[in-house]
Amino acid sequence: MNIIEKINRLKKERNAVILAHNYQLPEIQDIADYTGDSLGLSIEASQVKADVIVFCGVYFMAETAKILSPNKTVLIPAKNAGCPMADMINVEQLRDLKRRHPQAKVMCYVNSSAGVKAESDVCCTSANATMIAEKAFNEDDEIIFVPDRYLARYTATQVKRNFVFWPGFCPTHVKILPEYVIDLKKDHPEAEVLVHPECSAGVISIADQVLSTGGMSRYAKESKTRKFIIGTEKGMVYRLKKDNPDKEFYCASEFAICQNMKKTTLSKVISSLENMRGEVTLSEDIIKKARVSIDKMIEYTLAKKR
Ligand code: 13P
Ligand code: SF4
Repeated sequence: MNIIEKINRLKKERNAVILAHNYQLPEIQDIADYTGDSLGLSIEASQVKADVIVFCGVYFMAETAKILSPNKTVLIPAKNAGCPMADMINVEQLRDLKRRHPQAKVMCYVNSSAGVKAESDVCCTSANATMIAEKAFNEDDEIIFVPDRYLARYTATQVKRNFVFWPGFCPTHVKILPEYVIDLKKDHPEAEVLVHPECSAGVISIADQVLSTGGMSRYAKESKTRKFIIGTEKGMVYRLKKDNPDKEFYCASEFAICQNMKKTTLSKVISSLENMRGEVTLSEDIIKKARVSIDKMIEYTLAKKR
């Protein structure tokens, strides 16, 4: 029995589904039941019928799946796959910020711990930050936005809101420099530049579209353009090429690799399914409190689609 057959057999035995983020290794994306961005994965996790969710991504994503499906067993094959940006703010730091801005509401990027989500009024992802800021707050509200200062600044250019920034950032996306994009554009002048809002303002200023990874996926499929320069983590290029074999995708930076996203391997997926290893556990109290901010985000998102 080969490795894929083994995973499929284990999936059946455990009644499990495999969810994977767009930055996962190609072989992980290929065995996943669903591959997507943080928002898509959250919605998928909230609707899963299976007993077990094997989450191939980083820890805050698996935690979000557990918060949304508390009665399911959520396994993360690479338990040490953290998100350095999410670790840039902890609960104590957020509480301190709230004490210094007693009137402020808190909007947290999904790239944050369950504890930080539990202290927040509403959650957002890169796919819906502008819409959430617009719908959940008024122009005169003071809004603490944690932890990504780049997503916060980009959102502030899209909607008139009064943000208090936190100095977090993604160490992978800051490796994408405007000059890399400009050089690629010289070689491929007809290419459209799609970048993630975690990129610096300099990169965003020369982009044609600023999109979540799910947004990039949809945009590339629907656009008549055949060439794209992709300003996000390198794994996204695999996903785009796989879905659009007739189009060309150029990675804006070969250095933009999230090591944590690459920690999930096929053998770790097998081991976690075989031994039910890497279970995500959270206290009932944290699940209840963190769920409020995530549910609010999902409600706004689904209401917009209706
Ligand atoms: P997406 O939600 O756009 O997939 O982004 C997640 C992430 O961690 C980007 O670095
Ligand atoms: Fe976190 Fe950046 Fe990796 Fe995304 S790419 S998981 S924000 S470190």
